[in-house]
Amino acid sequence: MSGDTKAISLAEKEGLVLFESVGCINCHSGPMFSDYKLHVIGVPENKKVLIPDSGADERFAFRTPSLRNLRFTAPYMHNGVFQNLKEVLEFYEDISVGKTRNKSVSKAMFDPLVDDLELSVKEMSLLISFLNTLNDDNFDKEIPTSVPSGLPVGGNIH
Ligand code: HEC
Repeated sequence: MSGDTKAISLAEKEGLVLFESVGCINCHSGPMFSDYKLHVIGVPENKKVLIPDSGADERFAFRTPSLRNLRFTAPYMHNGVFQNLKEVLEFYEDISVGKTRNKSVSKAMFDPLVDDLELSVKEMSLLISFLNTLNDDNFDKEIPTSVPSGLPVGGNIH
């Protein structure tokens, strides 16, 4: 992202080009791959979460997360509904053709940037190989005793 053309392999670069052309970068931008903004994308509910989260202002908007170190941060989305990146991409494929997977979120509620997504199954493995370049296990592994929200550290999603 800072212009080192030798940082990743050819196939991974193809994945990066797709990441830009299919529209992921419209929300996952900048050094952390996040615009830090709220978007409605209609993530399905996770049956394991007893009290579903209706997001900011109860309109199912959630903040774009970073895409760094995804290898260490599964399960994905605010409620941990997806176990792996394939499931995440299958979800994006559905919303890109206007198919909602959350009965509380109609197609009309989707963020306008969702309409710009153009995704197909055959691009999945290239996108995933690009996302895998964003892993680096050299991060701070200290577990905090508290977090700013006051919620318990760790959660209970298995
Ligand atoms: C309209 C904005 C938008 C676009 C376009 C978008 N995303 Fe996202 N992405 C989000 C938001 C918001 C979340 C968090 C949703 C939630 O927590 O419910 C998210 C979550 C994710 C996650 C889960 C990260 C985690 O740690 O849980 C991955 C992986 C991801 N996006 C990859 C992609 C890829 C790949 C594309 C392109 C195919 C893409 N996104 C396009 C907004 C977007």
